[in-house]
Formats: sequence, structure tokens, C-alpha cells
Amino acid sequence: MRVLGIESSCDETGVALYDTERGLLGQALFSQIDMHAAYGGVVPELASRDHVRRLLPLIRQVLSEAGCGPEQVDGVAFTAGPGLAGALLVGAGVGRALAYGWGVPAVPVHHMEGHLLAPLLEDDGPAFPFVALLVSGGHSLLLDARALGDYRPLGESVDDAAGEAFDKVAKMMGLGYPGGPRVAALAEKGLPGRFRFPRPMTDRPGLDMSFSGLKTFTLNTINDLGGAEALSDQDRADIALAFQDAAVDTLVIKCRRAMEKTGGERLVVAGGVSANRALREKLDAAMAKRGVRVFYPGLAYCTDNGAMIAYAGALRLAAGERSGLPIAVRPRWPL
Ligand code: KG4
Ligand code: ZN
Repeated sequence: MRVLGIESSCDETGVALYDTERGLLGQALFSQIDMHAAYGGVVPELASRDHVRRLLPLIRQVLSEAGCGPEQVDGVAFTAGPGLAGALLVGAGVGRALAYGWGVPAVPVHHMEGHLLAPLLEDDGPAFPFVALLVSGGHSLLLDARALGDYRPLGESVDDAAGEAFDKVAKMMGLGYPGGPRVAALAEKGLPGRFRFPRPMTDRPGLDMSFSGLKTFTLNTINDLGGAEALSDQDRADIALAFQDAAVDTLVIKCRRAMEKTGGERLVVAGGVSANRALREKLDAAMAKRGVRVFYPGLAYCTDNGAMIAYAGALRLAAGERSGLPIAVRPRWPL
């Protein structure tokens, strides 16, 4: 079965073609980052309009590069939520209409399920059951993933998502958007030990997380040094490192507890923040000690992409799921 996947929940237009026998046949991604950078974050209306401009040319490109005509597509998967309503409607409208025109089924995909399943696109991907840490710009979740569609919540952020905290810290230091990769790059030049930031909610039991206090602590540190304009390059790097260390340690501690609680042997880490090298290194070391194997998406599939939606859609279609004719999205949608 060949499934066309469409992602348009935020600021990336992603398209991919997945074949259940042969794997990924093609994909394309257009990032709107440059357009939103001038505003310091995603402007929803501009995002929707750009998805309208990009989506059909990207679909044509993916099909033509894969040497695949529309008659060889067996289903269309689109991100139906969570995300920006207008942006989601573009992908859902185009996906639903194409499927109708081609006479094939369409299937709505939960964006976070796309992230969750992205590591399964790798050659040596994990099998169910596994514990999953999903860390993106909008979510920080720990789940017990028993089987496709059977995801039991273990914990979540009670305030900001981990990626959101990276983005806000970057903004405080004038690093621009998106902040995660920029904070991570700056942290490489930081001097360890100059600052120590708190590891929120790790001193009491439980798997919920919090990143808002860490963000405020970072702001206070910047203000103690005279404000963002007064920071030297070294100050910025030291703050980036202290923030990243605290965020990463918090996630590692929560993962360790989740593995203890479930007794699981496999941990999946996905979503934009799973690209973070410090997180990968510390998690790998902590989990190796417990005999737990950690699975990540390939670096290209950590942040938003069409491949994860095509893949999740293929599994859902194979399980018999179908979308009705009305074009519906769910901007808020618990996993
Ligand atoms: O999964 P994603 O592309 O979009 C959402 O579903 O939200 O995640 C984007 C988030 C942003 O907050 C971005 O700053 C963060 O992932 N991110 C990173 C890194 N790369 C992306 N955070 C930390 N380190 C990175 N290397
Ligand atoms: Zn995402």
C-alpha cells in the first residue's frame, strides 16, 4: 500500500510517500522559518497562506520524484490536529479533496502520534510496547505505548513544553527563532559550573514536568547580569549551557522514573527536542546503566515532517481507519 502523507499543523509544509513494502519513496519539506523569524514566532495567518502556496507543488514534486502517478496512490493521510486551525485546514482540505478525486481513502492523523512513530521509520526501529518521551514545541509527554493507538499517559508538562522553553530562552537572549537549535549550539561554548539552574519537579515523586520556573530562573539570571543587552558572548553561552543542562537533566530524571515505574526495556524519544545532542548523550548513558535501549528518529524526522504522517497514516489505514467526507480538524486533541 502506498500512502501520501501531508503535514501542515504549524510552520512546516511536509509531504511524503510511504510504501508499506518498500519504505519511504520520496519526501519534501518546506520550512516557513525565514518568513516567521522577523516576527519572533509563528504568525498563524501567514502560516496558513503559505501552506496554500506550497502544498500542491510539493505533492507534485514528491510524486514525480518517486516516479509515481496518482493512480498508484492507495490512500492519503493528513495531520488533523493538534495545531493551528487554519494551517491544519489547508492540509486536511487538500488531502481530503485529493483522496476523493483519486477514489482512495483518506485518514486523519494525530500529529503527536506521527512524532511517536517516527523512530519506527528507522531500519532498526522499536517494537511495541515501549515508553515514549515526546518533546516538541507544543508538548512534553511521557506515555506508556502498549500498541498502535493504545497510549497511556504517564506524565506531562503542567505548564510550558520543553521546546517552548528553549524557544523562550533564545528569545530572551535575542537569539531569534526557532530557539532550540540556537541555544544548543551556543551551549557548546559554555563554561560548565558557572551557573546552576534548578531541575523543576524532580524533588518530589511523579512523572509530571514543569519548564516555566526554569524559564523565569533564566530571565532572573539575565537581569542580574544587567539585562540581555549587557550580556557578553560568554555570558550567553554559559546561560545557554546552564539552561540546557537543567532541562536535559529534568527529562533524564523523568525518563528514569518512567522506566522504573513500567519496568519497560525500550524508550522512544521523539519530537523536535529529541534532536538535541546533549539530551541524547545523557539519556543514552543513563539508560545503558539500566539495560534500557533508547530509540530516536533520524535527525531529519525529529522536527515536523511529512514522512511521519505518511507512516502513521499507513498503519491507521491498514487497521481499517477512514476519514468521513466532511473536512474536519481538531486544533486541540489529546493523544
Ligand atoms: O516537533 P517540532 O518540530 O514541532 C512541534 O510539534 O512543536 O518541535 C519544534 C521544537 C521547537 O521548540 C524547537 O526549538 C525544538 O523543537 N528543537 C530543539 C532542537 N531542535 C528543535 N530543542 C532543543 N535542541 C534542539 N537541537
Ligand atoms: Zn511537531
